[in-house]
Amino acid sequence: MNILGIETSCDETSVAVVRDGVEILSNLIASQVDIHALTGGVVPEVAARKHVERLSVLIEKAMHEANLHYPDIDLIAVTNRPGLIGALMVGVSAAKALAYALGKPVVAVHHLEGHIASNFLTAPDLQFPFICLIVSGGHTDLHIVQAHGRRRRLGGTRDDAAGEAFDKGARLLGLGYPGGPVIDRTAKAGNPEAIEFPRAWLEEGSYDFSFSGLKTALLRYVQQAGDALNVQDAAASFQEAIVDVLIGKTVRAAEQHGIPRIAVCGGVAANSRLKELLSEEAGKRGYQLVVPPSILCTDNAAMIAAAGYYQYLTFGASDLHFDTIASEALSG
Ligand code: KG4
Ligand code: ZN
Repeated sequence: MNILGIETSCDETSVAVVRDGVEILSNLIASQVDIHALTGGVVPEVAARKHVERLSVLIEKAMHEANLHYPDIDLIAVTNRPGLIGALMVGVSAAKALAYALGKPVVAVHHLEGHIASNFLTAPDLQFPFICLIVSGGHTDLHIVQAHGRRRRLGGTRDDAAGEAFDKGARLLGLGYPGGPVIDRTAKAGNPEAIEFPRAWLEEGSYDFSFSGLKTALLRYVQQAGDALNVQDAAASFQEAIVDVLIGKTVRAAEQHGIPRIAVCGGVAANSRLKELLSEEAGKRGYQLVVPPSILCTDNAAMIAAAGYYQYLTFGASDLHFDTIASEALSG
């Protein structure tokens, strides 16, 4: 089964062709990062317009790279929620038009189901259940994934997402946008124990996250340090505070539920310190750890095609009248 995936929920225009949910025939991503770097963040209207300019060309290219013709496509999968409405509408309109013109089924995919499915593209033999930490610019969610399309949500962020915390932290340190990669790089030259930033563990047993207090602590630190600010140490200590809590709660979830498999996905899963420390913790306990390569961690259409494949097998096609939805938690 050849699945054409389309992802336009935020600032990456992406189109992919995936065979049977596991084999990536093409996965093209046109990033808008340079454009949004000028404004220090994503401007929704600009993002939508860029999707319009790029999507048709990208669909043609993805088909060409996959060496397929339109009649070879069996299913179209598109992100319809959550995301920027204008941006989502570009992908959804294209997907519906293609489905209608080709007479093929279409599935409306939740963006976070896509991130979860990036683990199956990486480790097709990954067994259920597994603990899944989804960490991106818009989400920080911890789930027990029990089957394709079935999971239990353990917790999520109460304020900023982990990626958002990296982005805001980088801005406070004058490091630019997007913050995650630049903090990751800068931190390598710093001491993660130089500054004791707060860790929000929240109530005992909670699997929720909170990063707004950490951001305020960094702001205060930067103001007090003035010209004496050591950016490398501040970046390393700030990163350590985020990574500590992410790993602490993820490992505790695995221990408490007796599940020896952990998967981490979403843009922040590209963080080298997170990968380093989590693989140490997983190794000590004999847990399997799956972290997709960066190209599948960041927003991409291959993960949407994979999620759409499993969704189609389990629940069938979506009705062509489906909507775009700005905000919807991935329920448990
Ligand atoms: O999944 P993603 O591409 O888009 C969303 O759905 O949000 O995630 C983007 C986020 C940004 O906040 C970016 O700063 C963060 O992922 N990120 C990182 C790293 N690379 C990207 N955060 C920490 N370390 C990284 N190496
Ligand atoms: Zn994402």
